[in-house]
Amino acid sequence: MPSLKTTSRGASVSDAALLTALAGARERTLALVAGISVEDLERVHSPLMSPLVWDLGHIAAFEDLWIVHRLGGEEMLREDLAELYDAFETPRARRGDLPFLRTGEAHDYLAAVRERSVAVTERLGAGAGVVHELVIRHELQHQETMLQTINLARLPGWSGPLQRPQPARAGRGGLELLEVPAGEAVLGAGPEGFAYDNERPRHVVDLPAFRIARTPVTNATWLSFAEGGGYERREWWSEEAWAWKQEYDITHPLNWTGDGREWRIGEYTPIDPDAPVQHVSWFEADAFARAHGARLPTEQEWERAATWDQRTIEGIGYGWEWTASRFSGYPGFVAHPYKEYSEVFFGGDYRVLRGGSWATAARVASPTFRNWDHPQRRQIFAGVRLAEDA
Ligand code: AVJ
Ligand code: FE
Repeated sequence: MPSLKTTSRGASVSDAALLTALAGARERTLALVAGISVEDLERVHSPLMSPLVWDLGHIAAFEDLWIVHRLGGEEMLREDLAELYDAFETPRARRGDLPFLRTGEAHDYLAAVRERSVAVTERLGAGAGVVHELVIRHELQHQETMLQTINLARLPGWSGPLQRPQPARAGRGGLELLEVPAGEAVLGAGPEGFAYDNERPRHVVDLPAFRIARTPVTNATWLSFAEGGGYERREWWSEEAWAWKQEYDITHPLNWTGDGREWRIGEYTPIDPDAPVQHVSWFEADAFARAHGARLPTEQEWERAATWDQRTIEGIGYGWEWTASRFSGYPGFVAHPYKEYSEVFFGGDYRVLRGGSWATAARVASPTFRNWDHPQRRQIFAGVRLAEDA
């Protein structure tokens, strides 16, 4: 494993900029929870998600481990909490029973760790900034996880300050496909700068021609699918997806109410027909694609289309997009700096999502970033982009 401490100082990343980014991430975290009651912060809203206050303590513990301890060489402020806040040791479903810090203590822990990590940075510098980037992006990613919890619980009390502008309303509801000719796809992040281990090494693959939708599938198009028997036609669903759909009686996206409205950024509103559909599982996305004689793009196709300079696909950044691909390491993958970020998830049933959502911080979203989740999950701000063989 390359050393964390001896990395050379990057010319473009100053310590001051990293401290500003840490502060900015913290401001966003605090704004996210500011309007939520202590009771709602401490409750388990869904077995899929941690109590919100667990995320707060976990954000602090991660920074305590990486900046204070690993980078700074100091003892962790709260070594005793390390296991409690280790995501791998304590699966989400069990987090409600744990003696995690309550709201006031979690806020104090966040602030106390931050004081130390600023001191470490002032004393030692941030080197190439790898550890700082890791910590900044970790906090930003947890904000999106917390937004999923807030949204899943349909909690009022936040106004969606993180919302990004919506994409242009075009592309025939997500059914206009563009052809991308056969050619080389350059996948993953280059050796310079920060990237997650699962984005490396950069490699080239030959891809046959394919077609991919210019824009994501809209609510209007999804509604036609649902009203056209989309959730009833057995032949459009894989065996596994059908069993899941039947067991949980799935008949529409998670945020739809069934009466023409949807839960959207803190309130019930009429379903916006032109907005990309969100809160569908991979199973539903796959069935939708089959119903249209299409399929989901592979992540190679997605990345080629997103980085191809002749024409670009649109609508990235509104919602994550499910791909056909399972999450695994690129050829030559090396875990860095810690195995529990990616490697422990390889080889499971996780499907890769690409792009980013309105809740994803710009610093995290990139054309090489790989997100992943189980095929039945719907709490993610995720929708569908269609593809076909050419
Ligand atoms: C990349 C969103 C799948 O939430 O499991 C947060 C991000 N990793 N803390 C996750 C992450 C460790 C990760 N995802
Ligand atoms: Fe985490």
